[in-house]
Amino acid sequence: QEGDPAKGEKVFQACKSCHQVGAEARNGVGPHLDGLFERKAGAIEGFKYSSAMKKLGEDGLVWNDFTLDQYLEKPRDYVPGTRMSFRGMKDKQDRTDVIAYLKALSQE
Ligand code: HEM
Repeated sequence: QEGDPAKGEKVFQACKSCHQVGAEARNGVGPHLDGLFERKAGAIEGFKYSSAMKKLGEDGLVWNDFTLDQYLEKPRDYVPGTRMSFRGMKDKQDRTDVIAYLKALSQE
């Protein structure tokens, strides 16, 4: 099923303690997620990423529907050594919805 950005905004509550999104977003515990789509992993200036995340970006990993779905399902499996202390989101529809929300905001 397609992602629903309105539902995704609710799912994003689980991310808000660490991430901001939207044009005014700033880095916090996690990097800001504005303009995330089609950007290389680990690319926000001034954010201290894990070396694992930086290396993935240098090796060419770009955030899109597929890579975000994989990372959000099991962050530590997809990026061994990630600093993101979030266990992951098991529900496929929740992931699809939160990705749709991030995508909508990325394009504003
Ligand atoms: C990294 C999404 C929850 C802390 C990232 C990245 C994404 C992301 C896409 C990579 C950003 C980039 O490459 O610039 C999400 C989403 C969440 C979530 C959608 C909720 C479903 C959290 C939570 C925390 C957190 C709850 C804090 C407890 C971090 C940190 C990084 C990160 C520290 C940097 C990881 C590294 O350098 O390895 N997150 N995140 N995230 N996130 Fe999250």
